[in-house]
Amino acid sequence: MSFTPDNELDLLFPADLISPEVKSQLHPDVHIRPLASTDHRRGHLSVLAVLTVATDLGEAAWVAQFNSMRAAAKTYYSLVIVDKKTDKIVGAGSLFVERKFLHGLSSVGHIEDIAVDKQQQGKKLGLRIIQALTHISESGGCYKTILNCSDDNIPFYVKCGFQRKENEMAKYA
Ligand code: ACO
Repeated sequence: MSFTPDNELDLLFPADLISPEVKSQLHPDVHIRPLASTDHRRGHLSVLAVLTVATDLGEAAWVAQFNSMRAAAKTYYSLVIVDKKTDKIVGAGSLFVERKFLHGLSSVGHIEDIAVDKQQQGKKLGLRIIQALTHISESGGCYKTILNCSDDNIPFYVKCGFQRKENEMAKYA
């Protein structure tokens, strides 16, 4: 089996927003593209499970969430890396664009939910996901791109060009 080409998929955002430079540097066994409406079947939640418990409420509920994200124009950019041989997802990441009144009505890009399948870690897939999301953020006019991570992941994000800034505060419902 080979992977499904982008033009046969129903995508969350236009595929040409993925940096050609990042594509050219990607490991040759994999392909990077926007999340597609059929990606529940390609193991999207299984890959996200390396992050935390990824409860599966079924494909219909997953597709409804996909559609509500796509309805919010220029806001949600989730992308995936698929294995070219199996068409299964091996990496995922998201960018959320927050529009602001400050900074001359500018925007901030928030990177969220970066996950690489355990078998595929260490092949620079995580780095390419961050580079692709940062490219979307910066080419979309965000004046900064930010994220939260554990202390353990700080060296990874430093290698991706990020620096430590301020603190995260959280209040769970
Ligand atoms: N500590 C130190 N260095 C690291 C770490 C780490 N935890 N992870 C990666 N690196 C280094 C690599 O060695 C590599 O260095 P090099 O350029 O000198 O060779 C560089 O960072 C790039 O690494 P990649 O191969 O791109 O990393 P990978 O594809 O394995 O992805 C990731 C890294 C996403 C952290 C992966 O290990 C993963 O999915 N972990 C579990 C889920 C997770 O913690 N996700 C991030 C949560 S934070 C958030 O989502 C905003």
